[in-house]
Amino acid sequence: MERIVNHPILGPRKDSRREVSFTFNGQRLTGLEGEPVAAALLAAGIRIWRRHEESGSPRGLYCAIGHCMECRLLVEGMGLARACLTPLKANMQLAEGPQLPNEITGRKLT
Ligand code: FES
Repeated sequence: MERIVNHPILGPRKDSRREVSFTFNGQRLTGLEGEPVAAALLAAGIRIWRRHEESGSPRGLYCAIGHCMECRLLVEGMGLARACLTPLKANMQLAEGPQLPNEITGRKLT
């Protein structure tokens, strides 16, 4: 778990949110209810959430404020969502975001 629990300036974490389980690509993980999905994935050590449409290079958190769309992944029941803006819920099922159709590569959405 890569989560700051005792910050040298802010002190110990006073977080009363309950721990919930969720999955990413079928892997069972835990996070704090209501925290951004991005925070839960990073705390679990998972940094790659999709692949670039042309190069296939790994993508994950970039702007962290909902502007760039680099963090998009699949949320069961929601479709594509931005991990930095989506609150974590108990038993959420997440999966790596698909490579979208692209005019340059001719890739079709599967
Ligand atoms: S990281 Fe930029 S929209 Fe989420």
